[in-house]
Amino acid sequence: MKPTNTIVIFGASGDLTQRKLVPALFSLYRKGRLPADVKIVGYARRPYTNEEFRTQLRDGVKQFAASGFDATMWESFSNRLFYTKGDLGTPSDFENFQAFLKKLENGPANRLYYLATSPDFYGAIVKNLGSAGLANEEEVWRRIVIEKPFGHDLDTALKLTEEIQRVFEERQIYRIDHYLGKETAQNILFFRFANTIFELVWNRNYIDNVQITVAESVDVGHRAGYYDQSGVLRDMFQNHILQLLALVAMEPPASFNADVVRNEKVKVLSAIRPLDLKETVRAQYKGYRQAEGVAPNSQTPTYAALKLNIDNWRWKNIPFYLRSGKALAKKNSEIVIEFNSPPHVMFNLAPGKKLMPNMLSLKIQPDEGIHLKFETKVPDSALDTRSVDMDFHYSESFGKNSLPDAYERLLIDAVNGDASLFTRSDEIENAWKLIDPIVKGWETQATPALAMYESGTWGPIESDQLLARDGRQWRSVGDH
Ligand code: BG6
Repeated sequence: MKPTNTIVIFGASGDLTQRKLVPALFSLYRKGRLPADVKIVGYARRPYTNEEFRTQLRDGVKQFAASGFDATMWESFSNRLFYTKGDLGTPSDFENFQAFLKKLENGPANRLYYLATSPDFYGAIVKNLGSAGLANEEEVWRRIVIEKPFGHDLDTALKLTEEIQRVFEERQIYRIDHYLGKETAQNILFFRFANTIFELVWNRNYIDNVQITVAESVDVGHRAGYYDQSGVLRDMFQNHILQLLALVAMEPPASFNADVVRNEKVKVLSAIRPLDLKETVRAQYKGYRQAEGVAPNSQTPTYAALKLNIDNWRWKNIPFYLRSGKALAKKNSEIVIEFNSPPHVMFNLAPGKKLMPNMLSLKIQPDEGIHLKFETKVPDSALDTRSVDMDFHYSESFGKNSLPDAYERLLIDAVNGDASLFTRSDEIENAWKLIDPIVKGWETQATPALAMYESGTWGPIESDQLLARDGRQWRSVGDH
């Protein structure tokens, strides 16, 4: 008998399920990508009936599904949604849950368990899944998707991996980083390795520096309680930004196979030189300490800028500048590759005039696309030059709503058993090995001092100074 397919969501009454997971599953269903027999089962503490659960999710789908809402489709999709009440820490609830699922599935079934709960529960859920026999694979598969944050530091990440691996093998563990599900992040590999002309110049001989900016205009909002314990390095750098860096800097994998790709990412992450605290900037926006849930004298950074180096053949001595923060002037995430200036300028440029370097911007969001800046002679002038932009926008080439939500890609990949866009334990460990000493250094030494910045600006002056010391500046190419 061919197994059917069940997706179980732990923490089903939470925000993530409502805003991201179920809207993404609905979009996949509309596109006919989910297995025809799929059942989606929510598990949480609230006493919902199936009907109440469905009604609540309907609102989320209406508001957030990238594919839009469709009443007829919703009718047929919502018949696949089920709910069961249970506690995450009570073993007997998992035994009841096993019985519930067996009855519902009525035969062999593959299962994807999605942990959309607070990270405090990950250990208990996995243990309970194990002891209630929910992890057993007999003629069927079991996979588990773990949301970020994966650990609070290296030690807790290692401990969590050990706890999960007592019940699931690494091949069954899917650690999610939603940045890897973004089309523009996936496209970094296509841009580099499905074309010939860029890879030739993608190295220390032609590149002057690489900059990764992930700027958010929103402040910490209602997540202040969580955020104050976390800060920008744990929230954005350990995962999303280092993953973007790995995609930009890795060597070409021989195939697009999950392990081959992840091996290359690990190699590059482990080649990053330990950071010097003097080459870091930490800052907090003014007014952050007034947010509910934030300690009155909180030292938690809401902004950071780092300079790092990758000690390998391709990147030796090429600085990578990374920055991210909340409450900044604009939402803008982009990776800028700044190329070397020409070795010799034969034009008699006007006094003070300098050629702008060539720059390539991989625009992650919003207005997703790619930009290439190059110098052009200003028409009807003798020698004047100007930087112009050759640009690609997804919205123009593929239509306005061409970009699915990141969770769609990741959910369907997990259902299909493709782990390429999920982070392996050694990637997580290498990322923590870099971030941990900075977090701890900032906490124990006063270097650098916590800078303050006004909301709605581009962050503290110290961040500009970090680049100015090297004779460089932050670039924003694709932001127009
Ligand atoms: C999350 C962080 O992982 O990513 C949030 O916890 C952040 O603080 C969010 O706002 C940014 O994601 P996106 O997709 O809006 O860039």
